Amino acid sequence: MIARGKTREQFIEEIKVLNTRIAQLKESRASVKKLKAELKKVKDALKTQTWGLKKTNENIKLLYKELETKNRELQRLDDLKSDFVATVSHELRTPLTIIQEGVALISDRILGDVNEKQVSILSQVLENIARLTRIIDGLLDISKLEAGEMELKRSSVDTAKFIKKIVEDFQSKAKEKKIVLETSLSKKVSRIYADSDKLIQILTNLVSNSLKFTPVNGKITVRADDDADGSVMISVSDTGVGMSGGDVSKLFNKFQQFDRVHGPGEKGTGLGLSISKKIVELHGGRIWAESKIKKGSTFCFTIPKRRMPKTGK
Ligand SMILES: Nc1ncnc2c1ncn2[C@@H]1O[C@H](COP(=O)(O)OP(=O)(O)O)[C@@H](O)[C@H]1O
Ligand SMILES: [Mg+2]
Repeated sequence: MIARGKTREQFIEEIKVLNTRIAQLKESRASVKKLKAELKKVKDALKTQTWGLKKTNENIKLLYKELETKNRELQRLDDLKSDFVATVSHELRTPLTIIQEGVALISDRILGDVNEKQVSILSQVLENIARLTRIIDGLLDISKLEAGEMELKRSSVDTAKFIKKIVEDFQSKAKEKKIVLETSLSKKVSRIYADSDKLIQILTNLVSNSLKFTPVNGKITVRADDDADGSVMISVSDTGVGMSGGDVSKLFNKFQQFDRVHGPGEKGTGLGLSISKKIVELHGGRIWAESKIKKGSTFCFTIPKRRMPKTGK
């Protein structure tokens, strides 16, 4: 029977449309099924991945714990080593002083006559005792600095005056080597807030290094000026033997000495720069070096002008 009001052609047309819709629906159902299967696959893969991640996380946690234990153990060993070095250094000092006094008594002929050959040997002995004393003092300084036990006695220091004084103290040594030792200080250089004894130790080491590693007729300049970040920058430049880039990067490590110069004057210990670095950093400053072989070196360090708000020191 044909529906009312519709022609046969219309009816056939509607059935065709319906058939197409049914076919489309079938297709959609098939793709939904496919999608569902894919979704399941993805879900399974995710499950596996989550499980893997969980395992990795657990492993990381385990490794972290292991690392922490190893770190603590290393710290303990490091403390033990520092204690050992401090104690041994301290214990070595007294007998060394007694040896030095005894040798000096003999060498000065207070205990009786000594021939020239003996005096010459005794003077070598005294030189080595002095070097050993410097090494021990250096080690004691390093142990104190590493254990955080070095106290700074800070006050306001007149930068220009302090530099001029040290440079003056070195003038006669410079003249002996025909080296020009001069200062170049900015008129407006500020005062710094620092431990003056420790500052002397740093600058003395830098100037004496420059004197040691600069040949006859060279030049050493000590400069000071305010820098941009609230500090004063002090530098020591020389026209000396210089160093390679590789050596510069190792300069501030303990016992680093490159191409030792066997000439007159005090033999070094290789501790001066590592002590200087620690002292500068304790003040809240930085220290670095630039150098070119056979051209010379420049050592710079900064010291804050005022006490630092962060540490309150
Ligand atoms: N101005 C410089 N020119 C060239 N080499 C330098 C200079 N200052 C330091 N050095 C190098 O760095 C080493 C370490 O210096 P330092 O720590 O002061 O120890 P020390 O003076 O006792 O040898 C020196 O032995 C030297 O090889
Ligand atoms: Mg030195």
